Amino acid sequence: MLFTQLIQANLRTKILGWKIEYYNRLGSTNLEAWELLALGAEHGTVVLTDHQFQGKGRGGNSWFMGAGKGLAMSVILNKKYPLECSGLISLAIGIAAAQSIQKRGLDPKLKWPNDILIDGKKAGGILCETKIQEEWIKKIVVGIGINVNETSNEFPDSIKGHSTSMSICSNHPHQRELVAAEFLNSLEYLLEMIHQDPNKIVHEWLDRCGHLNKPVTFTEKGRAVEGIFSGLDSFGHASINTNGEKKLYHSIILD
Ligand code: BTN
Repeated sequence: MLFTQLIQANLRTKILGWKIEYYNRLGSTNLEAWELLALGAEHGTVVLTDHQFQGKGRGGNSWFMGAGKGLAMSVILNKKYPLECSGLISLAIGIAAAQSIQKRGLDPKLKWPNDILIDGKKAGGILCETKIQEEWIKKIVVGIGINVNETSNEFPDSIKGHSTSMSICSNHPHQRELVAAEFLNSLEYLLEMIHQDPNKIVHEWLDRCGHLNKPVTFTEKGRAVEGIFSGLDSFGHASINTNGEKKLYHSIILD
């Protein structure tokens, strides 16, 4: 059980999180968010569940959440953003996730495209999906999954070796509502910063990056890509060296 009032009691936002659609069980908060958007959901609406049983991960993978243990949340951004902001939006989401974990006394690192690592293992991930029209991002669903109170033997065997949770790393449980509220507080602030001070977003992300000049893997148009992450440009696009060739990538899913 998650207490939406406890999330809202800790909000410092103007818009994000003041409407929360809470479900005891749900296949995927991202899928539900798109359905709510089709019905005209308001900007800032949050979709939250205590038990996500068909979570979507990046690159067509699935996402595991321990029932009653993890955080699975989607934030609906029903507002238009210039397409060139896509890289910075994605970075802002990663920073907000890292800040929400850091606020609870841990030291998370970000790995491009947007893995959240603690002690070198995956503790969270982001699936940011968009609807594009001409040069505008018209709608965004920001999906965030954080392993909060899972124990190591709760993770499926296929991910056990490289997964961790906040409670494993700190040896005590964490209140998921506080992590959720802080994510929303940071995200709203950072989305404003995209227009006011885009360099701040790039620098904040790089400050938390644990793999500059190290290998990364990701999927592009369904194809696995491997390369060396060598930094970010001022639009928040990642510069990746693949087979001796430097290319720019963004991590948002553009549809
Ligand atoms: C990844 O593969 O690293 C991204 C995982 C994103 C999981 C979150 S959990 C909440 C939201 N709903 C989903 O179905 N997926 C995202």
